[in-house]
Amino acid sequence: MISIAVIGCGRIGRMHAANVARHPGARLTAVYDVVEASSKSVAEETGARAAASLEEVLDAGDVDALLVASLTETHADLIERGAKAGKAVLCEKPIDLDIKRVDRCAEAIQGLDVPIQIGFNRRFDPGHSAVRAAAAAGEIGDLHQVIITSRDPGMPSRDYIAHAGGLLRDMTIHDFDMARFMLMEEPVEVFAVAEALIDPELGRELDDVDTAMIVLRTESGKMCCINNSRTSVYGYDQRVELMGTHGMLISDNRRPHELRRSSGEGADVGVPYLNFFVERYAEAFMNELSAFVDAVEGRAPVAVGFEDGRKALILAEAAYRSLASGRAVNLSELAEG
Ligand SMILES: NC(=O)c1ccc[n+]([C@@H]2O[C@H](COP(=O)([O-])OP(=O)(O)OC[C@H]3O[C@@H](n4cnc5c(N)ncnc54)[C@H](O)[C@@H]3O)[C@@H](O)[C@H]2O)c1
Repeated sequence: MISIAVIGCGRIGRMHAANVARHPGARLTAVYDVVEASSKSVAEETGARAAASLEEVLDAGDVDALLVASLTETHADLIERGAKAGKAVLCEKPIDLDIKRVDRCAEAIQGLDVPIQIGFNRRFDPGHSAVRAAAAAGEIGDLHQVIITSRDPGMPSRDYIAHAGGLLRDMTIHDFDMARFMLMEEPVEVFAVAEALIDPELGRELDDVDTAMIVLRTESGKMCCINNSRTSVYGYDQRVELMGTHGMLISDNRRPHELRRSSGEGADVGVPYLNFFVERYAEAFMNELSAFVDAVEGRAPVAVGFEDGRKALILAEAAYRSLASGRAVNLSELAEG
């Protein structure tokens, strides 16, 4: 049994706190948010104590680990401070928006013997992980193509977008990680096209995009195509398809149940997909937490580490460079500066 403190009690922190509170291998000891009312309301919901400061959490003898769910700009600092205080850290994605800050963070925690896990929850989705396991076991022969479709049901708030660091670092970062996970090889080349098609004002006001397609290629020639949209009117669209010499594997969208209606209006009409990440990836978030508990207890290596977070951000950097230049970008160009 490990004791966890959740840092950041917003949209996803609230969900993580509830998950820790009901996980059989974890105890939610404390929650902390810079907005006191947020910590207090999550503390009331879960029975944890509302810490008055981060220092209180870091000094607490009954906190083994931090689950960092605060704003992205706080992650690198919290990883460093947590690790230096001897706390294991499960940190939401991304580590930071700036690769130089990520590298400084890596240096700061080098040699500290604490598990650091990054919140790429989709790896733990039962369907996605089954597809990966089947491909890894050779069920589709030699893997050639990966297609990742990741479309949100609706635009986040302007305020969220203003701080999120751009579609490719905020949202596609999950898909860059999924691409690496599914390809089982490192991509070496990235070509991206992206536009503000849903909300052209977004482009003018925040220099951001809402629709993207990205192609990745590995050294041996395996390919991955990522499709992103901030708004799919038919719901949260999350699919992964792998194709190889012996067949194809698909992890499909999920619905709350499998009722199908047939009438004069249409045949086999199903209910809408699970609404958004909290619902669609509910099992994935719990499995992610179980993997973290196992890593902290020493039963398993860290499943998704700091370097995975760093590599996903490097792919986002390459994709932005491709957008700016209009051509495919080799990752070696990033090392050249
Ligand atoms: N894995 C996923 O699918 C997923 C989904 C949504 C968000 N996220 C990530 O989770 C993070 C939080 O996103 P959100 O949507 O919950 O945002 P949010 O704005 O709803 O919540 C963030 C919370 O952090 C608090 N906070 C800010 N600075 C803090 C600090 N220094 N110490 C403690 N608390 C602090 C804020 O007061 C707020 O309550 C982001 O990094 C985001 O990228 C991941």
